[in-house]
Amino acid sequence: MSATWEQRVRRAAASSRVINLGGGLPSAVQFPRAALASSFFRVLGVSDGFALQYGWAEGQESLRALVARRLIARGARVTADDVIITNGAQDAISIATQLLLRRGQSIGVEATTYPAALDLFRERGLRPVSLGQGRACYVMTSLNNPAGTALDAEVRASLLARGVPIIEDDAYGDLTFDGKTAPLLLSAAPGRTYHVGTFSKTLCPGLRVGWLVVPRAYRKRAVTIKEANDLQANSLAQAVVSDYLRHADFEQRLDVLRRFYRRRAALMARAVRRELPSWRFRFPDGGFCLWIDTDARVSERRFSELALEEGASFDAGSAFTASPAQGPTRLRLCFSLAAPETFERGVRRLARAWARATRAARHVRR
Ligand SMILES: Cc1ncc(COP(=O)(O)O)c(C=O)c1O
Repeated sequence: MSATWEQRVRRAAASSRVINLGGGLPSAVQFPRAALASSFFRVLGVSDGFALQYGWAEGQESLRALVARRLIARGARVTADDVIITNGAQDAISIATQLLLRRGQSIGVEATTYPAALDLFRERGLRPVSLGQGRACYVMTSLNNPAGTALDAEVRASLLARGVPIIEDDAYGDLTFDGKTAPLLLSAAPGRTYHVGTFSKTLCPGLRVGWLVVPRAYRKRAVTIKEANDLQANSLAQAVVSDYLRHADFEQRLDVLRRFYRRRAALMARAVRRELPSWRFRFPDGGFCLWIDTDARVSERRFSELALEEGASFDAGSAFTASPAQGPTRLRLCFSLAAPETFERGVRRLARAWARATRAARHVRR
């Protein structure tokens, strides 16, 4: 994105005139503010001040144990010692990448993948390639962002057969609408899976608490990398999350979130079917967005500009692939952040922008 274009997008996103259907942010309505506030007061009241003190690079023991318990419930054979607390999933992906790959090497990614992981790989001088290639690979087993589907069973089997190291990003694993997920690759191939998780989607991203589990032989080195990068994850945030998990019914919260986001997905799907019947999408199995195949190829930038003029924003599809796709324009529409009462209006604005963009594209082709 050019600097001026980025400025325009940022300004538009901040404008109350624009209905923001991009970004992939969780709903602020669901942040457990009161419970987190109680946790903050409780941990700050502890006399040794541990929540405000430096801690070990691998993270607080109590939180590591809570994360391990949840992974064990999903079939992984881990202990608290296997878990490293990170500043969100992004930090965990970054450490795994530092462990596994050097500049110039390639990493296999899914046909649609998470843009900030692509940015990270490229920033590290790595070449994102298709999943069948690469010295290591990066996948979202439970739920792909943006596609909203689990990793295909055949792809999963061939990955396991290939035997390369796997960075398994499970950022949305707790947010499949039916609460079911495919078994973790961490359980199937613990000797070469670098498992990444986060509380960003299920609690709130502002605390920046995630985790990384690496094969035991690499744990020491992973902790050394964490320490070299930034010493440790934020002590206060770790203490708050740990306290919250001990006092709240987290599993019940997940049930509420799944119902909440499923309802929003249905409302967004209905708005798109009504206003843009030529657009195609598969109803997602969970997560925050619809992944859309349109019926024409137009300039993404032009379509974004027209959408902003009409008062709506979305995520351009090209950001979600390692190599630019041919064929019709694709985009990600998020139902997680905007108020559901704005969905119809927002999609109608997109429909007007789409009509203008496709008219202009046809005009240019003639
Ligand atoms: C698939 C995926 N992985 C990782 C992240 C980063 O999460 P965190 O906020 O925990 O760094 C995101 C955030 O959108 C994501 O969608």
